[in-house]
Amino acid sequence: MEIFNCYATAAFGLEGLVAGELRAMNLPDVRAENGGVRFSAAMEQVFESNLSLRCSDRVMIILAEGKCLSFEELFQLVLSVPWEKYMSGTESIDISAKCARSRLMSPRDCQSITKKAVIERLKKKTGRKVFPENGPSFPVLVSIHSDAVKILLNTSGDALSRRGYRTWNGEAPLRETLAAALVDLSPWKSGMPLYDPCCGTGTILIEAAWKAANRAPGLTRSFAMERFSFADAAAFSALRKRKEQECDFSRIRGIGGGDIDPEAIRLAELHLKQSGTSGLIPLRNEPFRQASMTEAHGVFICNPPYGERLSDRENCRKLYRELREMWARHPGWSFCAISSDPAFERAFGKKADRRRRIYNGRLECNYYVYYGSGKTESD
Ligand SMILES: C[S@@+](CC[C@H](N)C(=O)[O-])C[C@H]1O[C@@H](n2cnc3c(N)ncnc32)[C@H](O)[C@@H]1O
Repeated sequence: MEIFNCYATAAFGLEGLVAGELRAMNLPDVRAENGGVRFSAAMEQVFESNLSLRCSDRVMIILAEGKCLSFEELFQLVLSVPWEKYMSGTESIDISAKCARSRLMSPRDCQSITKKAVIERLKKKTGRKVFPENGPSFPVLVSIHSDAVKILLNTSGDALSRRGYRTWNGEAPLRETLAAALVDLSPWKSGMPLYDPCCGTGTILIEAAWKAANRAPGLTRSFAMERFSFADAAAFSALRKRKEQECDFSRIRGIGGGDIDPEAIRLAELHLKQSGTSGLIPLRNEPFRQASMTEAHGVFICNPPYGERLSDRENCRKLYRELREMWARHPGWSFCAISSDPAFERAFGKKADRRRRIYNGRLECNYYVYYGSGKTESD
């Protein structure tokens, strides 16, 4: 059984969480670095990580890596990969490249050099002259940073944040992988009450509910690796079935949300339906100043508006004060919010018990965690 060097990519600040997820899957050689986490895995485990990882963007197989200062060195590195082992010769070879702080800085040239080397190797090893590229996609990423090159096989295909339930994005939906991270970084544990007072399209609620239900986030979507010629499709579908059996929606309890915008609530209802959680997560169309929880303890998790334009900032700061008032009415609840506004704590009127820098896309944000009465950091 071949063991691959793998790389699970992650947004800046989330690498540690992804490393934790991989360790929980008992995968060996887990090592976080900037932008991703290395680990070792057999093909089936690569598939399992695609199905199960909540906070990673993509799972890659590292086919080769090395330092390249010239196109010739890149060509030789790509040529050293046994492509004939992984490809039947009909695949559409989809090569993308990203370059940063390196001698080789043209993604387009790196793409074409890589493609040339792949075809050259395939020709030499298979004796064939023509590769029709009318088969399934074989997505390869050439990643170059500070002259260090990784030739990566993208086993996920589309980003893992595409869980498969979202049909239309609201105004500012949170990426699903980030929503999962906010849930993980909060004091919430499965079984506890959780409320998102400005839930928008419902992203945080669905991530929490799926976690409570042990529902693999990739259960109903497909992955590029399912169409690789060297993959064992039967083993993958058996694994998918097992994950389906491990999922128990009766464990979704105490999760709810609200939003002032009826259109957001309509979208959230649609997403709940498409994520299989319809009827399990009550939603309220109300401003959070009216939010009232019946349970004495729980966790608020939210992604309130940030007001990126200066003119909107003051309005958002009023909302942060209102969120503080909502929290004050629920002293047993913890409160967590992500915001890009550097004055969040001042507007909210209290220093957070924990603060963590996180990126929402390219936007630098902080995630603020305030503990409710009786809750301490060690809990
Ligand atoms: C950044 S969006 C949240 C996006 C959400 N996390 C998602 O993934 O779709 C902020 C949300 O706050 C809601 N909102 C703004 N003011 C509110 C208020 N006073 N009470 C409740 N919701 C409010 C907006 O309608 C919007 O849906």
